[in-house]
Amino acid sequence: MTWSREERYRKYRDVSEKERMLLKKKVNACPWRQSFHIQPPTGLLNDPNGFAYFNGEYHLFYQWFPHGPVHGLKHWYHVTSTDMVNWQNKGLAIEPNEFYESHGAFSGSGIVDQGDLYLFYTGNTRDEEWHRHPYQCMAKMTKENELVKAAGPIISSPPKGYTEHVRDPKVWKTGSLFYMIIGAQREDKTGCVLLYQSRDIKEWEFLGEVITKLDAFGYMWECPDYIELDHKGILIFSPQGIEAEGDLYNNIYQSGYLVGWPLNRSTMNFDHGPFQELDRGFDFYAPQTTLSEDGRRIMIGWMGLPEMNYPTDENGWAHCLTLPRELVLKDEKLIQRPVRELANLRSNQEEVADQLLNERKSYPHIYGTTYELEVEFEVGTSEVVGIEFRTSENEKTIVHYNHLNKKITLDRSESGKEVGTTYGTTRAVGYDGETITFHLFVDVSSCEVFINDGEEVFTSRIFPSDHSTGIQFFAQGGQASFQAKKWDLSMR
Ligand code: FRU
Repeated sequence: MTWSREERYRKYRDVSEKERMLLKKKVNACPWRQSFHIQPPTGLLNDPNGFAYFNGEYHLFYQWFPHGPVHGLKHWYHVTSTDMVNWQNKGLAIEPNEFYESHGAFSGSGIVDQGDLYLFYTGNTRDEEWHRHPYQCMAKMTKENELVKAAGPIISSPPKGYTEHVRDPKVWKTGSLFYMIIGAQREDKTGCVLLYQSRDIKEWEFLGEVITKLDAFGYMWECPDYIELDHKGILIFSPQGIEAEGDLYNNIYQSGYLVGWPLNRSTMNFDHGPFQELDRGFDFYAPQTTLSEDGRRIMIGWMGLPEMNYPTDENGWAHCLTLPRELVLKDEKLIQRPVRELANLRSNQEEVADQLLNERKSYPHIYGTTYELEVEFEVGTSEVVGIEFRTSENEKTIVHYNHLNKKITLDRSESGKEVGTTYGTTRAVGYDGETITFHLFVDVSSCEVFINDGEEVFTSRIFPSDHSTGIQFFAQGGQASFQAKKWDLSMR
């Protein structure tokens, strides 16, 4: 189905209750609805927004077009949780009904100050010639979850030297000052980030562009985030326009980070190391972080990418968010571990081990469609060790480690209904070791594979048949050993 401009730019309230019910019915009939991931009730979800711990709960929002699986008029949808893994749908949060957000309430962040949650976002507008004009906006959420927008935009136009692609404000506080980092495009069509400062959270002053070593790294940097861990500064962003380079940058757009000395806010200099990709899978974009109640740095991303079709489109919805991950810094690299609260979703623990694995093996009690699986391999004399999951006669998703070419690969070429094949069907990352752990979170239509306690992550949608429930462990070319634990997972 093609969508006209009128259809794409309808607000939530412009659609009748009957139309909404019909769409909901179609969505509910979809075989690929997730069981423990945040997904839209209908329509399209993209970036996570406004992630914050406020008033005894985690509040998270996401970019939402309610009426179908297309990037139409963006609203903010609201979900809450007390443990970051059991989420409750709270409904519409930001509805784009002011002049400065006529073409969408785009991405942004949340920060708690003096008992209120402040949400920052980009109001996107288009003129008659369809030229874009961005406004940076603010809304306040009270303890009663009431949302009040500021009287008007807090920043009304891009600074000189930058195009209309200025969006996705992320706000934090250092000492008594607030800072806002925004994704931008220079007039020469290269990406960068801009920094603003405020004393009172309301009036913002432009400090300048953050000076990095990446002068010409893609044409736009979306969804920036700046954090500090272990006295290092980390700039996370999603650059567009980066060419693939071997196993790197294989998706349509990338998400990654730079680690450096803390940003020097007087010179605007950020002295950093190389750009590193956050995720090695097929579907990961626009992540954002917050601090947990007990001070852990938590990141959540969009398990999807723009400008691609997905098999759920036919059922009137698209995409979900990733599981939350805890970030720690080790040797200038971000280690990403599934949040420990995920243990709250577990039931039915099963275990299996084999000291002499030299073929493909399955076990009658190890199977499923929605589970966590932790597997530790000793490579031994074998050449390849790995796991096939969501298998049936004609379908399987494979993750394996090849000890000969020193690569870990995720292969979704036979996962079920195809998605994004123009960008290839395997993803790989280098690794050299005698042992390897695979920590899988498999949902109805996704997998998140954490390698060696969070050193790498492969995040991907997969669209297998519901009878593809098999799990097989394998070793080729010699003998390996492994032990595994499995739990069923579901939101309570
Ligand atoms: C990233 C992005 C953001 C923008 C939002 C609009 O996926 O393009 O830059 O704010 O999506 O939905």
